[in-house]
Amino acid sequence: MPDIRSFQIAEGLYLIKNPNIFFNFNSYLLTCPVDEKTKLNILFDPLPLRCFQDFVKVLDDIIGVENIDIIYTNHQDPDLTSSVPALLDLSKKALYITSQDTWRLVSGYNIDPDRYQPIELIPNGKLKFGKESDDCLQFVPTPFCHFKGAYAVYYPKLRTLFTGDLLGGASTKKTDGIYADIDSWIGIKLFHEVYMPTKEALKLAIDRIGRLDPLPELILPQHGDIIKGELITEFLKRLNDIEVGLDYMNKEEREKELYMRVFNYMLDYARNKYGEKVVIEKINNISTQVSNFPEIIKIENGVISEIYIPATTAFVFIYDAFCQDLPEKDKEDIRLQSIATFKKYNLEVPEELLQKRTSSFVDSFRRIFGLIRR
Ligand SMILES: [Fe+2]
Ligand SMILES: [Fe+2]
Repeated sequence: MPDIRSFQIAEGLYLIKNPNIFFNFNSYLLTCPVDEKTKLNILFDPLPLRCFQDFVKVLDDIIGVENIDIIYTNHQDPDLTSSVPALLDLSKKALYITSQDTWRLVSGYNIDPDRYQPIELIPNGKLKFGKESDDCLQFVPTPFCHFKGAYAVYYPKLRTLFTGDLLGGASTKKTDGIYADIDSWIGIKLFHEVYMPTKEALKLAIDRIGRLDPLPELILPQHGDIIKGELITEFLKRLNDIEVGLDYMNKEEREKELYMRVFNYMLDYARNKYGEKVVIEKINNISTQVSNFPEIIKIENGVISEIYIPATTAFVFIYDAFCQDLPEKDKEDIRLQSIATFKKYNLEVPEELLQKRTSSFVDSFRRIFGLIRR
């Protein structure tokens, strides 16, 4: 049974999230004053259908689900749209706002077209609802981050930017807190490598965020931790520098061949030193240690011919398993020779290899593998 929790971030602004550490979902409820008597209740990126019952209970506790005026989704993925049809049934007066590219796909849920408002038909991309100039929602196109019709939404009054998957993290370490710290970067990097299609798209979105006036002080993504203050600039700067999507895959592909040479060096070393029989035993031994081993690498005719996960991660894992039970001196020989081979091919040396270690990497990597395969 999902255990949905809500957190008040500011006056009239709530985070509603499920408790998963890996790949959690964030929805946001924003209540904007229109005049002294009226408020506009906007629900961003609703939690998915499997959380529906508990999600509605939380919404009932905060404002009453029937009082939602606008349901907004950043794009069409099921983690944020699967509850939309049922919510529209409970929130009879609510309008559904999203881009036309998104609607083309979400309309497959058989939503009444009269309850749909395209972003593109909102004058100047700004939905004004109050007297002040910052009483508005500004729709910010972030094409291909990660869907063509994705739009972030800016609420200048609270300087908050609802970014959908952009700036989302694959994990949240926080069980009690909701704000990112510098360690949240690992999950953000992994999420963008996997879900953002190209570096150009990401750079364009970062540029658009940088042009917002005033600059946002709070980033509210649909996964991971909320980002505030100086970390916003820090993470945007880092995102600007990483390879994502197709670029990431191409880089991996280019470097994979070289990594395989380093892998095969280990096999050759053992073959020369201990003979073919020991190498076969080692390979079998690794297979039994890691039940999912055949999915990590493929061995054909005694050489490693394929790597199925990021190569640096695979290397450290196999190195660790391979060196088990070898004399300390041999382990150190392999470690130093591997570092030299990485350098020879101008490859990044895995951090874990730079220090002489006695403990195993296996447990920590098992956890990471689960995440990468999703
Ligand atoms: Fe998505
Ligand atoms: Fe998502």
